[in-house]
Amino acid sequence: MSANRSVNFTGIEFENPFLLSSAPPTESESNILRAFEAGWGGVVTKTIGLHPVANVVGAKAKFLRTSPDDAHVSMKKRSGAALHSSWNWELISDKVLDWWLPRIGRIKQAFPDRALIASIMAGSGSDKELRNWQRLARECQDAGADGLELNFSCPHMDRRDMGSNIGKDEGLCSVVTEAVKEVAKVPVWCKLTPTTAEIEIEAGACFRGGADAIASSNTFPSLPPIDLDSLEFEINVDGLVSTGGLGGPAILPLSLAKMAQMTRAFPDRSFSGIGGISNFGQALSYILLGCGTVQVCTAAMLDQAVGPNVIRRLLTGLDAFLERHAADGWTRVEDFRGIRRDRVVAQSEIRRPDASEYHSGFETAEGYAGADG
Ligand SMILES: Cc1cc2nc3c(=O)[nH]c(=O)nc-3n(C[C@H](O)[C@H](O)[C@H](O)COP(=O)(O)O)c2cc1C
Repeated sequence: MSANRSVNFTGIEFENPFLLSSAPPTESESNILRAFEAGWGGVVTKTIGLHPVANVVGAKAKFLRTSPDDAHVSMKKRSGAALHSSWNWELISDKVLDWWLPRIGRIKQAFPDRALIASIMAGSGSDKELRNWQRLARECQDAGADGLELNFSCPHMDRRDMGSNIGKDEGLCSVVTEAVKEVAKVPVWCKLTPTTAEIEIEAGACFRGGADAIASSNTFPSLPPIDLDSLEFEINVDGLVSTGGLGGPAILPLSLAKMAQMTRAFPDRSFSGIGGISNFGQALSYILLGCGTVQVCTAAMLDQAVGPNVIRRLLTGLDAFLERHAADGWTRVEDFRGIRRDRVVAQSEIRRPDASEYHSGFETAEGYAGADG
């Protein structure tokens, strides 16, 4: 049997499981068209809202690099330093809904077989805000979007009823999802913030509201480093900074842990993995935990804005992996999805050394006194 890259995720057919996440790579029509030409299986648009957006002065996103000799992490470019993470305080799309709608239609006309998911966001503090969610959902799906991703995850919103503040409140997660599901004719994914202790609680609330899938992670709240000479934050406006979002390689292990919490709690549900993916090995970790698709932002931003080399690496990596495992009978992602999900267990379930070798953690050789000492 020949290898098959395609996946059906929440009822949507994807040519391959690799998507661009909602972020600068999907902020314009030209970027999305270039992304599809490069081979991405789908895109999630930059988040579309109804509220006016004014970003901070200056750069909205920067990159942190680390040097191998002293592990110094800084935004300053240094030769030999490797990418550590992205850092951003960019808000949702500053383009209005009416700007997006004809573009969604044109993109779908140009690439009818590629999936376009519209990321949307409104408030949650009143019935009027719930109706805003419904308006965004209706208009994006009528324009041709194949699915909707509800942004319950943006970490830079001051409003208590928006972004990650929704994702931190299981009641709001459920109510907003239900409101969107009332009008949605296409699948609805919820993108959750990774900043709660037990993300499976918010995931469960979204599923109760009718969500078809959960996507995670958005960026993790973080501060930029302070410059040793000027004693100023490496990114600031008039000396001031707020927490921004950390993405890229640094968040891969953190995001995998959040994903495992959810896939273990809901093994039969659909999940889209995001965080620190730039090659197939990292995507594979999410798939082995149970994700049916994965999404990429930071690596694509650094590769001609839409990641043509990143998607090439992901596709060749998937093909090579399937070829290597042909003898196992694996011909598509579904054949190995989730096969390491059950390996993540409580600490108490991990084997300890035999009693004869284990001294309750007190090793006399390390200088601890013996039990009778
Ligand atoms: C500059 C920037 C802007 C972003 N804007 C959005 C957004 O509008 N909506 C959203 O859901 N996520 C947004 N994200 C989060 C990304 O979609 C993604 O979840 C995050 O960067 C982690 O993936 P990565 O490690 O591949 O970067 C943004 C990320 C960055 C770096």
